[in-house]
Amino acid sequence: MWRDADGEVVAWAGLIRPGGLELHASPSLVPTVLRWFDQAAGSVEQTVTAMDTDTALIAGLRNSGYCEADEPYFRHCVRDLDGDLPAPTLPDGYRVRATRRGEVAERAAVHRAAWRPKSLGRLQVPPVDLGDGESGMATERYRVIAETWPYRRDLDLVVEASDGTLVASALGWYDDVNRAALLEPVGTDPRHARRGLGAAVSLACLRSMRDAGATLAVVCPRGDTGYPVPRELYHRIGFRDAGRTVTYRRAA
Ligand SMILES: CC(C)(COP(=O)(O)OP(=O)(O)OC[C@H]1O[C@@H](n2cnc3c(N)ncnc32)[C@H](O)[C@@H]1OP(=O)(O)O)[C@@H](O)C(=O)NCCC(=O)NCCS
Repeated sequence: MWRDADGEVVAWAGLIRPGGLELHASPSLVPTVLRWFDQAAGSVEQTVTAMDTDTALIAGLRNSGYCEADEPYFRHCVRDLDGDLPAPTLPDGYRVRATRRGEVAERAAVHRAAWRPKSLGRLQVPPVDLGDGESGMATERYRVIAETWPYRRDLDLVVEASDGTLVASALGWYDDVNRAALLEPVGTDPRHARRGLGAAVSLACLRSMRDAGATLAVVCPRGDTGYPVPRELYHRIGFRDAGRTVTYRRAA
């Protein structure tokens, strides 16, 4: 972390994997952070992910010899949370509601059903093979998430089937300083896919975040053709494309 004279953090950076940098820095500190990365990473191929709107970082990367790589990327999609937010519609037998107190095991189970390691691996940039086992989202792990600020149970939405099983979910994170809402993650048990549940639970979550005070929502699906369905879903419910991530690479 880099701090200014008052002790405020003005940049942070970390190696997310060998040779892979993640950072947030004010424009004047970009060269300093990249110099730190150069030393910390050692003589391996170096990759940095930047938003295409971050002109200071991109200029700093180009000046340091990085080139844009033609790789999968994430697209930031945004949606105004105003009056034009349709009510969710569901097929007969399903209902959408907030997660209940004491329902952590069921909530973790619906996450596991939707998020198979195979799709999680395909989603990553660059994609990795995580095998075809079961997701590691155990009840205890979900409990930790649910106890982590700014988690709110009223923004943790689920779809319940007629037998009471949870079959889809959408978790919302509300930043009450910026009045911005992050939708992350959304998932549907594949045995109930393509019935409008993902769209409905997302809309319900957006309405709850609007009721909490949010004026803008953001969601960050893959933007390339390698993993296209979530972006289709979000566009279907009124999100529009904003910036995207770009991978920059420099040879060892
Ligand atoms: C993405 C996901 C949540 C979709 O759930 P779902 O309940 O099947 O989606 P819906 O039935 O609500 O579909 C809504 C829209 O999304 C798009 N869509 C959904 N599945 C699709 C598919 N297999 N192929 C193409 N478009 C699809 C369509 O536009 C669809 O509208 P339509 O049926 O009227 O054409 C689900 O596939 C999933 O859980 N995937 C794994 C986890 C994941 O990747 N989550 C999103 C991460 S950002």
